[in-house]
Amino acid sequence: MLDEIVAHATRLRRDLHRRPELTWDEHATAARVRSELDALGIPWRACAGTGTVARLGPPGPAIAFRCDLDALPLDERTGLPWASEHQGCMHACGHDGHTASLIAAAAWLKHHEAALPQGVVLIFQPAEEGGHGAAKMMDDGALEGVRAIYGYHNWPALPFGVAACPVGPVMSANAEWTITIQGRGGHASAPHDGIDPIVCGAAFVGAIQQVVSRNTAPQEAAVVTVTCFQAGTPPADNIIPDSALLVGTVRAGTTERRDALFARVREILAGICAAHGTTATSDYRPCYGATVNHPAEAEAARAALRAVIGPDCIRDAGMPLMAAEDFGAFLTRCPGAFVLLGAGRPGQPIEGCH
Ligand code: NI
Repeated sequence: MLDEIVAHATRLRRDLHRRPELTWDEHATAARVRSELDALGIPWRACAGTGTVARLGPPGPAIAFRCDLDALPLDERTGLPWASEHQGCMHACGHDGHTASLIAAAAWLKHHEAALPQGVVLIFQPAEEGGHGAAKMMDDGALEGVRAIYGYHNWPALPFGVAACPVGPVMSANAEWTITIQGRGGHASAPHDGIDPIVCGAAFVGAIQQVVSRNTAPQEAAVVTVTCFQAGTPPADNIIPDSALLVGTVRAGTTERRDALFARVREILAGICAAHGTTATSDYRPCYGATVNHPAEAEAARAALRAVIGPDCIRDAGMPLMAAEDFGAFLTRCPGAFVLLGAGRPGQPIEGCH
């Protein structure tokens, strides 16, 4: 029976892969999930629009398993027979596999429903890719009657056959920021008559490299990265521009730490602007909080992984990852744990998610 379930899930994954849908647009994916649940005879309800919550087993407190449904705005160039048929959209994070595997789990659980010691809730979450689908589903009652929640992400950087499920932080809190440094433009030959925002921006970029090295404990995970620095208009070689635009990210193992990091970035910005005679505006946009596993549930997940994959399958080195994950929102309201399942193939280069 398990072979049949896995074969069906493989077909389902390829079908979903062929027709990916972006965040909050998972209509066909939701319809497919619901028809699969109907075929299994598992009752479900729509939750937060394109989300679905299903339940099986006895009444009373349940454990929940969650998957995510959405794809990414990328063109697929894999040439696979089941490659995306939707231009500009691809399941490049493997959420198709997460969804298919939860349907597979649903089929197995349905077959063993009479033997289940407690209820099981299945949560098919839309909008994981920055759309805060978890919060919307919780507002719509997804965690009613749930005593613990579990989820996983495939992880190509870990080899197939191993898994990570640390107690504590597993994924980081992330935030984006945009900073505009305002100087005063002028002729490149007369720098003393203007205020150069490029020199100020360069000093700022250099200075904030020390936020992690000098303001963060060596034991803590944190990242400050500048991802965009725009000033001037190519090919002009004789104009000092008025302003410089910088964009970046801050990430940390706890949500509080992430916010403290950006507070430090802002202090440095103010000091450097004062030194250069510029002014600046900054826009800070926190996205997901940290995904922090609860101790008892992480231990339960590790025990299950050891039982299913093998006694030596757990590799928690290098946690937390500096990626971010909407599952963390569930863990702020309910005990649970998030697992990273190794998906790397031996001898092949790591193809990261996204
Ligand atoms: Ni993902």
